[in-house]
Amino acid sequence: MQISSKEDYFKAWQEASENPENFWSKVASEYQWKKPWESVQSGNFTDVNIKWFDGATLNITENCLDRHLQERPDKTAVIWEPNGVDEKEITYTYKELHAEVCRFANVLKDQGIRKGDRVVFYMSMVPELLTGVLACARLGAVHSVVFAGFSAQALAGRIKDCEAKMVITCDESYRGAKTTPLKEITDEALKDCGSIEKVLIRVRTGASVPMKEGRDIELLPLLKEASPHCDAVEVAAEDPLFILYTSGSTGTPKGLLHTTGGYMVWAGFTFENVFQMQDDDIYWCTADIGWITGHSYITYGPLLKGATTVMFEGVPTYPEADRFWQVVDKYKVTHFYTAPTAIRALEACDIELVKRHDLSSLKVLGSVGEPINDEAWQWYHKEIGKENCPIVDTWWQTETGGIMISSLAGVTESISTYATYPLPGVIPQLLDSEANVIDDKSGEGNLCISKPWPGMARTIWGNHERYKETYFSAYKGKYFTGDGSKRDESGRYRITGRVDDVINVSGHRIGTAEVEDALNEHHHVIESAVVGFPHDIKGQGIYAYVICNNGKAPTSEEEQENFKKELNAVITKIIGPIAKPDQVQFVSGLPKTRSGKIMRRILRKIAAKDISNLGDISTLLNPEVVEEIKKGAGL
Ligand code: WT7
Repeated sequence: MQISSKEDYFKAWQEASENPENFWSKVASEYQWKKPWESVQSGNFTDVNIKWFDGATLNITENCLDRHLQERPDKTAVIWEPNGVDEKEITYTYKELHAEVCRFANVLKDQGIRKGDRVVFYMSMVPELLTGVLACARLGAVHSVVFAGFSAQALAGRIKDCEAKMVITCDESYRGAKTTPLKEITDEALKDCGSIEKVLIRVRTGASVPMKEGRDIELLPLLKEASPHCDAVEVAAEDPLFILYTSGSTGTPKGLLHTTGGYMVWAGFTFENVFQMQDDDIYWCTADIGWITGHSYITYGPLLKGATTVMFEGVPTYPEADRFWQVVDKYKVTHFYTAPTAIRALEACDIELVKRHDLSSLKVLGSVGEPINDEAWQWYHKEIGKENCPIVDTWWQTETGGIMISSLAGVTESISTYATYPLPGVIPQLLDSEANVIDDKSGEGNLCISKPWPGMARTIWGNHERYKETYFSAYKGKYFTGDGSKRDESGRYRITGRVDDVINVSGHRIGTAEVEDALNEHHHVIESAVVGFPHDIKGQGIYAYVICNNGKAPTSEEEQENFKKELNAVITKIIGPIAKPDQVQFVSGLPKTRSGKIMRRILRKIAAKDISNLGDISTLLNPEVVEEIKKGAGL
C-alpha cells in the first residue's frame, strides 16, 4: 500500500488508529501466506502478550525472493561494493539471489541446522552475511548477528545467552586500511561456549587461521557444491525470525526477539512509504547488518519490495573521505540513507571531495540513529541533496523493528531536526514528569507508544520479565521508548534524545552501566560513573569518572596516560573498541545522595562543561567532591 499524498497519509493514519484490524489485513494481503491468520492482532500492553497475524503461516524469504521471480527475475536485487576500490563489485539479480540463498540454506541444513535453532553471525559486510541471514529464515532458523566490532567476551555472552548451535564468521575482515582477525576472536569466544557445534568460515583476506577438526569448515567450497533449490520451511507468524542484542540502561545486553509475520509487514510497509521508490531506483543504506538498520533497511525491507539494495563493505573515509560520494556516482544511487555522525564527519572534510562527484542521481536522503543537528541537516540538504532531495529523518529503535516517526519522502514535509509524523499504526504520546499524558497539541515530554504495532519486538530472549520491566513498567499500559520528544502545533515530533542511562555514540547504543562494569574490572578501579557529553562528530562522547584504589591514582600526566591506555584495553576486551571513553577523569569520590545514588545530572553537566545550573548540592552526602571534580575538569 503506497501512500502518495499528504491527504492519503492523514487518512491512512486515521484508519490504522481507528480500525487497525482492517488496515493491517489490507496491507498484509499484499504478501504470500501459506495459511491465513485467525486474528490480526491480539494481546495488550498490560499483559504484554502481543501477537500479530496469529494462526497464519508463511516463509519471509518467499516474500523477499520467490514472489519476485515472476515479475522481476533479472532485476538487480543486491549490489555489493567491496572495501577496496580496485576490487570488483558483486551483483545478484533476484533469480541469482534466490539461488544463493537456497544454496546457503542447503549448507546449513547439511550442517544440522533446523527450524528454531539459533545461528550467530560474526562477520563483516560480505555478501554471505546477507544471504546467510536469509538462508536461516528459509529454514525457520533464528539468526542473531553480532556486530563485528564487538570483543570475544561480548560475542561469547551473546552466544551463550541464545544457546546458538553455530557461528558463521570470516577469517578476517577488511574495513578501510584495517583488517580484524574475526576467526581468532571467535576461537577465543568459543573457549567457553558449550552450545556451538559448527563454525563456518567465509575466507575473505586469505589469512592463515587455525581450523579445529570436526568443528570448523570453510563456507565458500560448501556453497559451490550445494544445490540452488531449497523448499522454504513453513513457520508460524509468531515464530522467531531473529534476535538482536542491544544495550539498555542496566546490566547485560538484551536479546530483542522479533517474530516473522508482523516484522515482515512492518519492514515492507515502512520501507515502501518512507522512501517512496520507483522501480528503477537504486537504494543505498550505509549501515552494517550488525545493527537493526541493516536488518530492516538493507535486507528485509528493500527485498520485500523488490528494490535494488547496495551493500557496502568499507568505511566512508577509505581510500579517501569521498568514498560515499564516489559510490553514489558509480551506481547512480537515487536513495541514500546514512547516520548524522557520518554526515558531520564528512562535512568536516574538504568540500572538493563532494564536488568532484556527480550526485545528480540522488532523489531522497535519509538520516537515522540519533538526532540530526540543524547544521548537519542544512549541509546534507545543500551540498549532497543540492536542495532538491527531501530528507527523511527516521526515528525508531532496535525494539520497534522499523521506522516509527518520519516524513514520507516527497509526500509529507521534511523539516530540519524534526522526525515529523508518526507512521500509520504508530500512536505516540508525550508524558510529563507526573506520568500524565500531555493532551495539548504542542508540548514536550517522555515519548511513549500507546498501541501495539506489527513490527515491535515481542520479548527479550529468555527473559520476558525483563522485557515487561524495561518497557512497560514506567507508564502503565504504554511502551516507553527511553527518548524525550517535543511536539509542535501541527503534531510533528522532534526527538530530543535519551532520557535514560543510554548514550548514543555515533549512532551506537552504549549502556553506561555496561561501561562502568567493564571499567570496574580493572584491578585498581574501585568505582566509576559514565555519562554522555556533547561531541561534535559522534553526537555524544563517553565521559568516565574513575575512582582508584587508595594510593593507586595516577598523579603525573604520563601515569594518567598509561592508566587510560589500560582502561581502554579493558573496555576493548570486555565490550569492544566502540565503547572506549573519550574522556577519563580521575576523582577521589562521586557526588551522591544520602541514599547513595550517584548524581549523574551533576556529572553530565560537568562533562558538558556547563556548571551554570548544578542545583542545590548542599543536600548531597559529599558536596565537597563537586568542587574537586569541577577543578579536575578545568572548570
Ligand atoms: C535510539 C535507538 C533506529 C536504528 C538505529 C539505532 C536514537 C534513532 C533517531 C532519529 C533522533 C534517534 C534514539 C533511539 N535515534 N533514530 N532519527 N532522531 N534519535 O537503533 O541502536 O536501537 O537506538 O537511537 O535515541 O532510542 P538503536
